[in-house]
Amino acid sequence: MNVSPSQQPDQDPAAAISARVEDLLAQMSVEEKIGQMTLVEKNSLMPEQVTRYHIGAVLSGGGGFPPDNSTGGWFEMINGFKEAATQTRLGIPLIYGVDAVHGHNNLIGAVIYPHNIGLGATRDPELLRRIGRATAEEMVATGTRWNYAPCVAVPQDIRWGRTYESYAEDTALVTELATAFLQGLQQDDLAGPLSVLATPKHYAGDGGSTWGTATSIYPAIESMGIDVPFRYEIDQGDTRLDEDTLRAVHLAPYIAAIKAGALVIMPSLSSYNGVRMHGHRYLLTEVLKGELGFSGFVVSDWGGIDQVDNDYHQAVVKAINAGVDMSMVPTDYRRFQEHMGQAITSGEIEVARIDDAVRRILGVKFKMGLFEQPVADKQYQSLVGTVEHRALAREAVGRSVVLLKNENRCLPLAKAVPSILVAGQWADDIGLQCGGWTVSWLGSAGKITTGTTILEAIQATVSTATKVKHDPGGEFADLSDGNNDQKVAEVGLVVLGEMPYAEGLGDRADLSLSEADIALIEGMRRLSEKVVVILVTGRPLILSDQLPLMDALVVAWLPGSEGQGVADVLFGDVPFSGKLSFSWPRSMEQVAHKDRELGEEAAKPLFPFDFGLS
Ligand code: BGC
Ligand code: BGC
Repeated sequence: MNVSPSQQPDQDPAAAISARVEDLLAQMSVEEKIGQMTLVEKNSLMPEQVTRYHIGAVLSGGGGFPPDNSTGGWFEMINGFKEAATQTRLGIPLIYGVDAVHGHNNLIGAVIYPHNIGLGATRDPELLRRIGRATAEEMVATGTRWNYAPCVAVPQDIRWGRTYESYAEDTALVTELATAFLQGLQQDDLAGPLSVLATPKHYAGDGGSTWGTATSIYPAIESMGIDVPFRYEIDQGDTRLDEDTLRAVHLAPYIAAIKAGALVIMPSLSSYNGVRMHGHRYLLTEVLKGELGFSGFVVSDWGGIDQVDNDYHQAVVKAINAGVDMSMVPTDYRRFQEHMGQAITSGEIEVARIDDAVRRILGVKFKMGLFEQPVADKQYQSLVGTVEHRALAREAVGRSVVLLKNENRCLPLAKAVPSILVAGQWADDIGLQCGGWTVSWLGSAGKITTGTTILEAIQATVSTATKVKHDPGGEFADLSDGNNDQKVAEVGLVVLGEMPYAEGLGDRADLSLSEADIALIEGMRRLSEKVVVILVTGRPLILSDQLPLMDALVVAWLPGSEGQGVADVLFGDVPFSGKLSFSWPRSMEQVAHKDRELGEEAAKPLFPFDFGLS
């Protein structure tokens, strides 16, 4: 090859990527290679340290927003890190990652789409492709082009706190929708200015773990609303399956994702038959990189390496040798780098292994065009929270809502109905309607971001003559007058659901409606002619006994910022079309799979997979 000194292959955009990678790798010291394998949580380092320790990647975890949580604030923060990377000896560009799992959700003002369980009900890959693209645009606006999504878990137990992050309990449906979302993020050319690198997660079998096998305990952190240490039950637990079943149920989405161009895969914090996935050499290296031909890199999950062995040094050695290429440390990165250095010196990790890891990482950075565009471009900042994106999210909400019961064609409601009572805290709360992974990791109630609540949407939809009254507690004290037989409204809506949660903090042994929820439904039954229950929830809830009290039952899942989509179907502007992507259990016995002992009748769900009235 004829190379002039100013056009070394690593700097020549026209050279083959493999030549550019080899050229660069040959110039790198061991420390620089380790730096490329280090992914640090943004609060744990300053830009100067990116330069000093050759850090190749930085992330915002759940709730990892900058002090100024605006598009400009994000942009400044991310570019600060990116510029620091250009100051290193070789100027290898830094990659910045976020969890934009339902829109660019840590950013205030970003459009929040329904969580994946709702999108599963739409059955519409084209819609997912559009949401992928719109999410990518809002990310690029803030300077990040790496998303820890899609979650391709196939949950087999809805007690799992990550059920809502998953599209469906069905492998084929997860595969179809996740692939479309990935294509929307990455688009045809990963080097395009609006293309975002996807990360199918969590490899493999995260949705198949067994209740009661989790060992993680989340500490009490008052500022996060966690009063006592919380023991996980199923999240990060053990997936106990024979290999054929693991492959058939949980591996298929990865095969499709790799075919569609996936270049990063994140292992699961769960184990497979007692072996931590982060240390599972057979599944990470032989199956994923060998048999499935995955040419990208494996990024560990948050602290995932630490769980491989009680001894941190051993954990690092085992995980890297098993096939982890980049470590989401996430905080004490110097410790990771020191142990890496020692392990390479001692020969516990061979140079060939880190060269393979670094080749994979650099290859992705070249494919993304980062060497040509190492810092982010300001010109896309207006792409956050656009009218088009809000319209897309509203459409997605309308398509995701599932109608489970509708006596005497109670729905759609007439816009001119004289009076509507609305009970329940979930009716008028943008935070509850968005759920976990919204601004903060666990999510929270309240006015946490921009959007339209379900109540606001109802008010905007009904006729000017319609009286809409909301009482979160459902007492309507001024109306009922203690006269129990008097119906005071034509329609009573009860909007109830789950409080926000994320990951193992959402593991729940009991998904039954609470006493308070039941009282709300019973109260509304007394006050209004018709009772419509709207659930704002990340998974099916147990309500078999309350069903007879409802004229109509609607599941809105966790719709996100555009509550208007719920009103669109309630009042008939858009037809109901959503279909359950999880079967809806009749009882907790069924969820716990105890029904297998109870026989066929007990095993029948209340509403089967694919059910949805129109
Ligand atoms: C972080 C999340 C992370 C979680 C894991 C949180 O503090 O914000 O991103 O997934 O911890 O425990
Ligand atoms: C979660 C991942 C997430 C990561 C970064 C982990 O706790 O399991 O899904 O991508 O944190 O926030």
